[in-house]
Formats: sequence, structure tokens, C-alpha cells
Amino acid sequence: MRLTIIGTGYVGLVAAVCLAKLGHIVTAVDREHVIQDLRVHKLTIWEPDLQEMLETCRRDGRLSFDIDIAHASRDADALMIAVGTPIGVNGQTDLSQIDDVIAQLKQVDGVCPPLIIMKSTVPVGTCDELEANLLAAGLQTEVVFNPEFLRQGSAINDFMNPDRIVFGCRSHLAKAALHQLYKGINAPIQVCDRRSAELIKYASNAFLAMKISFANMIADVCEGYDADNRQVMQGVGADRRIGPHFLRDGIGYGGSCFSKDLQSLLTSGKAIGRSLPLLEATAQINEERIPQLLEKLISLWGNPRGKRLGVLGISFKPNTNDVRDAPFLTLLRLCHLYGIEVQTFDPVVQHTSIDGVIQMDTAYEVATDADAIIIMTEWPQFAELDWVLMARLMHQPILLDGRNVLSDEVISRLMLVENVIYIPVGRPMERAKLTLSVNL
Ligand code: UDX
Repeated sequence: MRLTIIGTGYVGLVAAVCLAKLGHIVTAVDREHVIQDLRVHKLTIWEPDLQEMLETCRRDGRLSFDIDIAHASRDADALMIAVGTPIGVNGQTDLSQIDDVIAQLKQVDGVCPPLIIMKSTVPVGTCDELEANLLAAGLQTEVVFNPEFLRQGSAINDFMNPDRIVFGCRSHLAKAALHQLYKGINAPIQVCDRRSAELIKYASNAFLAMKISFANMIADVCEGYDADNRQVMQGVGADRRIGPHFLRDGIGYGGSCFSKDLQSLLTSGKAIGRSLPLLEATAQINEERIPQLLEKLISLWGNPRGKRLGVLGISFKPNTNDVRDAPFLTLLRLCHLYGIEVQTFDPVVQHTSIDGVIQMDTAYEVATDADAIIIMTEWPQFAELDWVLMARLMHQPILLDGRNVLSDEVISRLMLVENVIYIPVGRPMERAKLTLSVNL
């Protein structure tokens, strides 16, 4: 198929590269400065294998870039919309980027492809409205909803090996076209109406976020009763009806999707007069995570003003450079309020434009003279650091392991260093067993 994809963000660019890899002829469209970078294979997205696959598809002539939607859509069999749908005012989903695409399709006769595939996450009913809008403008096309379930850091793998593919569509023609588009991917295909497909996306993310907040809620109970949430969640997740995934406690979820989609679903509920208390509680538990963790440090410090906090990890999760809605941003804002100095290290997020962030080149520099360290992102290399040295470099050896990164073996060694306090999540704090220096 000849496919035009509008939007080259985490979803659009991954879809463009993967569908080109599957043999389709893909033209990806975005704003001029973005396309200029992509044409010279300069990526702002840090996603494993993306760079290599992009270059291969470009070399094979299956992937090209354009800045003009009409020009790029003229001979397309289908147009995929993968633009951002952030939360706007009053918790409403901002669909302005989609509206821009539709407006450009209306401007020039004969450029609207027979099939429009909505990949962006949109409130229930959006595709129905879009299709009615286009038909009213005399454009003969069908809008289908085909949600993505990609996780950043494993987006290509998730695209090529999905748990399921969902087609929210009406006609047999659209269904046949979607089957052809995803030919070569071995996954269950669910065909349903558009509104149900739109809701599948929101309900999936809301449930995943709820699992995480559940794990964090139980973590607080474990800390109060000297239990170990790692054991608790292992036992809970062993139940096939529950499953072991997305039960890791810590500093809470971040990223551009969970909070956005939860808010959008809450707004959709409100629009029909339904409160969604489970989602409200999920969001509230998550919002309280960082203040709760910082409070643990402040209770040890006394007066936080002037303290120096070392932060390991800025991105919202490992294997990505994305800082959108990262828990780190909440931590930074609170530290500024308390007058706490923040110095950070992140293996991938370099020289961020975030105000007030002092970025070091190594974790050991972050530890130097720090009054505490908090691990915000579970990068594997953080577990491999020389934590005895890290503790010795610190002014106050307090380690808040926000992602339970350190192994029991490392923690045992750490406990032999004078005055060390180790604060995990979901189990009790540990203090150094000895108060004298021990040459290890
Ligand atoms: C998520 C959904 O997983 C994906 O299906 C959807 O398409 C987009 O949103 P993503 O945001 O990329 O993907 O990352 P994900 O791996 O889901 O993690 C989201 C947040 O939850 C991260 O901050 C992560 O650290 C946190 N998390 C995840 C936990 O705190 N505990 C867990 O057990 C899992």
C-alpha cells in the first residue's frame, strides 16, 4: 500500500519505519524543521533500533518525508494520523493538531485518500465526528480507529510483536485494507466499532496506571508493617487473573500517556455525568508519590533549605530520553520550593533545557558532597555503581532508592559504611549496622 503518515513523533515515526519495513511505501509528514532533521537521519527520539531501521527503509526507497499534507496524500491509499492530542484547558483533549490536518485535506480537491486511519489517542466519538465532518465537505472517505499500544523504549518491538491489533471500523473494504496494512505481523486482530476501539485505548492505559497505583498503595502498607512489597506483589502477580506485570512500586508513573489518558477519560466520564472514582484514586495516589518520598528525606534532614540532593535519572523510564511528565519534574519543582539544590545525572537525557537542573557527567559527581541521593529511573547501570564509594563521597550518606534498583547483596555491603541510611520503597528503611568506618 501507499501510506501517508501525519506526525513523526514517538508513534508516527515508529509506525512509518515499521510499516515501510513491512513493505509499504510510506511518506511521513511533519513540520519543516522536523523533516529537515529526518531527511539527514537526525533523530530527536532515542528509541532502540529506530535509527538503523529508518536508514534501511530510506535506502530501500520505501520511506520518504514531506512537509505538505496535500502533496504527500495525493496518491495515497490511506492516510494515518499520528499527531499529538495533549490535555488542553479544563481537562479537555486538545484536538487542534487533528483539526489542522483535516483542514488541509479539505483545502485541495482530490487529495483525501479513501481511508483515514486515526492512530492518535482520541476521546470516544471523535472518529464518528471527523468522518461526518469530511463527508459533509464532500470528501468520500472512511475514518477508522487503530490504536497504538507502544511503550517508549520498546516501541519497535511492541509494534512488530503486539499483544493484539484493534481495528475500529465499519466497512469490509476498510477491514480488508487494515488486514493488508498489517500483513506480516502475527498477532490477534480484533475488529469492532470505532467507539469501542477508542475506549479500548483509554481503558487499557487507565487499567495499567491503576495497577501501578495499587502496587504503590500496598507498598505504603508494607512499610507500615515491616513487610516486603516485592514479595507481596510477586505473590499477587502469580495469580493468572492478575498477572505479574505493572505491579512494580516506586516513585509513580510518568510519561506523556498515562496521566493524559486518565484525565481525558475522567473528562469523558464527567461529560455524561459519571464520576470515575477508581481513576480519581489512581491519579491521586500517583500525585502523592513524590511529595511522600521527599518528606522521608526532610524528616531525616530537619531543615531542607540549602541541602544538596543528588538525582539519578531524569527521563520518566529507562531506555528513553523523554522527560514529558517525568516524576523528576515534580521532584524538581518541590525542591525549588524547599530551597533544596538538585544535581543530576542521566545516561541518555543530556543537557536538558529544564530550568534549574545541574547536570553532571557521572553518578559519582552527583554523589560528591550530596546530602542524599534519590534514584528516579531504573537504569541498569545504576545498580552496577560502586555504592560503597558513592556513600563515602556523600556529605550525608542517605540513599532513597525510588525504583528499588539495588540488590540485597549491594545493600548489605552498603550497610557496612558509616552512617548510611538506605530507604527502599515498599519495605522498611535500613540504617548502617556499624557507626565506625570499616575498610572494605
Ligand atoms: C504506556 C503504555 O504502556 C503503552 O501501552 C501506551 O501505548 C503508552 O503509555 P509508556 O508510557 O511508554 O507506555 O511506558 P510504560 O512502560 O507503560 O511506563 C509508564 C510509567 O509507569 C513509567 O513512568 C514507568 O516507570 C511506570 N511503571 C511502569 C511503574 O511505575 N511500575 C510498573 O510496574 C510499570
